[in-house]
Amino acid sequence: MLLWREKIPDDWLPKVLSDLPAVLVDHAHLERKAATSALNLEKYRDLFPRVSELNAIAIEELQHFELVLGLLKKRGIPFGQPFPSPWITGLMRGLRNGTRQQVIDHLIVCSLIEGRSCEKFQILGRELETRDPELAKFYASLVESEGNHYATYILMARDIDDAETDRRLAYFLDVDAKLIRDPNPLPMLH
Ligand SMILES: [Fe+2]
Ligand SMILES: [Fe+2]
Repeated sequence: MLLWREKIPDDWLPKVLSDLPAVLVDHAHLERKAATSALNLEKYRDLFPRVSELNAIAIEELQHFELVLGLLKKRGIPFGQPFPSPWITGLMRGLRNGTRQQVIDHLIVCSLIEGRSCEKFQILGRELETRDPELAKFYASLVESEGNHYATYILMARDIDDAETDRRLAYFLDVDAKLIRDPNPLPMLH
């Protein structure tokens, strides 16, 4: 896994545990957006040869979305409005224009989102074990898949330009480190 330059702030876990229904709604939207992102990456010429792999990721994310919707239904939680994530918005703001530059930046940002999700799902899988075993199992079951998405996106970027991927990864890890420290009181994953 990636060497983050900043750890998840200590107040993230208590904040998330304080309102799990809201977190599940946020999570449903996160999976929906992950599916959309995989499809959006298909617009880049450099990724035309990878279109089936991207479709496979989009399908997996839609399956995750359906699983979260199933949990919402079972728990009587309505599927509501998403909170905008300042962390995701901030990362996306770092995308440069120009197709070759943009595809690498976009892949790196998608990769970091998957990587942070993987890390946070791992924490939830562990921390929810006694409080909510069903949810703990669910989060633990997603870790491998999100970890694979993280790795796939970074390898796709490296295939296009390895040195440029290193440079931009360093840049976006700094952006992540700065943004993740910004206080966000809302019960959301990112
Ligand atoms: Fe997912
Ligand atoms: Fe994913």
